Amino acid sequence: MLARSLQKQPTLWLFLLFCGFLYYQFSKDPTDTSLAGLDAFTSMDAPAKAPSKSPNIAIITFITQNPSYLHLSLKNKDRKCSGHPSNLTFLTCVSDYARRHGYDLIVDYEAHSEKGLMWWKYAMIERLIKKKNKDWDWIWWMDFDTLITNTDIKVADIVDEALANVTDPSQIDWILSHDCNGLNFGSFLVRNSERPLKFIADVIAMSADKKEDGGEPSEQDATVMLIKADPKSAARTIQIPQTKINGFPQEIACFDEEHKGWQPGMFVLHFAGAWAHVKGEDPTGQLMRKYEGDIIWGDWKEFYEQA
Ligand SMILES: *[C@@H]1O[C@H](CO)[C@@H](O)[C@H](O)[C@H]1NC(C)=O
Repeated sequence: MLARSLQKQPTLWLFLLFCGFLYYQFSKDPTDTSLAGLDAFTSMDAPAKAPSKSPNIAIITFITQNPSYLHLSLKNKDRKCSGHPSNLTFLTCVSDYARRHGYDLIVDYEAHSEKGLMWWKYAMIERLIKKKNKDWDWIWWMDFDTLITNTDIKVADIVDEALANVTDPSQIDWILSHDCNGLNFGSFLVRNSERPLKFIADVIAMSADKKEDGGEPSEQDATVMLIKADPKSAARTIQIPQTKINGFPQEIACFDEEHKGWQPGMFVLHFAGAWAHVKGEDPTGQLMRKYEGDIIWGDWKEFYEQA
C-alpha cells in the first residue's frame, strides 16, 4: 500500500526523507543548535521558548487574638494542622491551599507596631523582603477575616493575568483592589524585591507627615495618600477587579466600580468591617460560618502523603 503510493507520488518520498532528516536533526544533542542545512526553515530554527514559570507566592497574615473563626481561617489557608488552635504554641500546620500550589504561609501571632495594629502588615512585608528569599516572587497579604473560597484557583494565575493587562509588567510592584471607598488593603500582592521597600518608607513618611494635621492615618489611608500625591509610586501599582482577589459578600455591599459582590466559585471572600453591617455578638464569626459550606476545598488525600 505504502509502496504503491510511493510509486504514484514521488513527492511522498521527498516528504518522508524530509521527516527522517528532521528526526535526525532534532534527536541530536539538543544543545547543538547548528541545524546545518535547515537555515531556510528559520521558524523551526528558533529556539523553543522556555515555558514561563508560574510565580511563587508567600501568603502572609497575622492574628493577635483568639476569634471564634481562628480555626476556620487558619485551616482555610493552611489546612492540615496538628494540635489544637487554642494552643498556638503547639500548633503546627502544613499548608493546604498553600501546599496544594507549592506556596508558603507565614503567620505572625503578635504585632508590635507603635503606629497601630494594622501597620504590622507593612512590618511583616519589610521583614520578609529583607530575608531575600528568592523562592517567592510575590507576597500575598490577606487580612485574617478572609476565606479562600475556591482553593482550585492559583493566586499566581491572577498575578499573571493582572500583569498581562499592563504594558510593562516589570514596573508593577503592587496588585491592589478597591471597594466602594477606594483602596481596600485586606488582600493584595506585593513583589518580593527591594523596590517596594522605598514605597513602604514613603507611606510611613506620608503618615508621619499627616500626623501633624491631627491623628495618624491608617496604613491604608496613608497608602492612598501616597498614591494620590506621587505619580511614580502610583505607577508601581495596578488595580484589579475586587472580585478577583477580595470579594465582599452581599451583607457588606461595598463594591468597587464593577458593582459585583462575591458569588460561589469565586476566589476570595473578605468580611471587611463586618461589625458595621451585621448585627450580633460576633459579626465576622457569623459570616465566616455562614459561608464555610461554600468553600471549594481540595481533596485532602492528594496532599496528605506529602506531609
Ligand atoms: C484584565 O483585563 C481584562 C480585560 O479588560 C479584564 O476582563 C480582566 O478582569 C483583567 N484582569 C485582571 C486580573 O485585572
